[in-house]
Amino acid sequence: MSSANKNDDSSQMNHKKTMSNETVIKVKDLVTHYGQRKILDGVNFEVKKGEIRVVMGGSGSGKSTLLWHMLGLYEPTQGQIELLGKDMHTISFNEQLKLKQDIGVSFQSGALFSSMTVGDNVALPLREFTDLDENTIRIISRMKLEVVNLGGFHKLMPSQLSGGMIKRAALARAIVLDPKLLFFDEPSAGLDPVVASEIDDLILSLRDTMGMSMVVVTHELDSAFKIADRITVLDKGKNLITGSVEEIQKSDNKRVMDLLQRRSRHDKLNPSEYLRRLTQENYTLT
Ligand SMILES: Nc1ncnc2c1ncn2[C@@H]1O[C@H](COP(=O)(O)OP(=O)(O)O)[C@@H](O)[C@H]1O
Ligand SMILES: [Mg+2]
Repeated sequence: MSSANKNDDSSQMNHKKTMSNETVIKVKDLVTHYGQRKILDGVNFEVKKGEIRVVMGGSGSGKSTLLWHMLGLYEPTQGQIELLGKDMHTISFNEQLKLKQDIGVSFQSGALFSSMTVGDNVALPLREFTDLDENTIRIISRMKLEVVNLGGFHKLMPSQLSGGMIKRAALARAIVLDPKLLFFDEPSAGLDPVVASEIDDLILSLRDTMGMSMVVVTHELDSAFKIADRITVLDKGKNLITGSVEEIQKSDNKRVMDLLQRRSRHDKLNPSEYLRRLTQENYTLT
């Protein structure tokens, strides 16, 4: 069994340029329930500074639940979550407020407010969390729009933007406070492949230019392979595997293979792979 088949994060990583040894996210023995139903069943993982960690898994496997718990939106049944060395549930209210400014979030549902201009949407966290004067706020929000290639679009209303532009504007808002950690839930869901690939490039450049650490939930294989330093696959509430892109691609774990194959049906199978599949049990990811 290769190291990648353990869930202890001892695997190698693709990307070493900006990644340091400092742990910025630590999830330890996380167990969560909705009512009586157990969703996560002892999840462990650590994200290093400057790392892009992609989380994959079948629909309903608990990916969003993991994100929500990492953000402190739900209290776990068991286990610990530390962001930047702090446990959201044990620190003081003021420390929580401070920690929240170091965290950027870009969720599928977290679209822009339709009644505000793009610029005001991006400026929102600055108005909420800082005492900066109006002029500075304007300058910072326009700079962030430039980072996502939307320079000059601040006066438009969200309804005047395309789907991909809305995602990018939401990303500008997520990074407006220069967070150390960024969380994405399905950042390219519903986008065409070219636009989705632009979002991937943006994610990579945020890591490389700003050294941000990120957790990205996605079911897009191409995207995962392009951006991930390491991939974690959740299955049945557990961390089935954590490894580099190469380790995940080489994995001989049936459920991992099923997940990869399900998502790339258009890829042609070679004959021996086909035969091997025919002789295997059929696994369904729920
Ligand atoms: N707020 C909630 N209350 C009860 N059950 C939920 C809630 N959110 C999600 N679930 C259930 O928990 C399971 C995991 O959901 P989720 O984390 O959204 O999965 P994923 O993001 O991997 O698709 C699913 O079966 C889902 O129906
Ligand atoms: Mg989800």
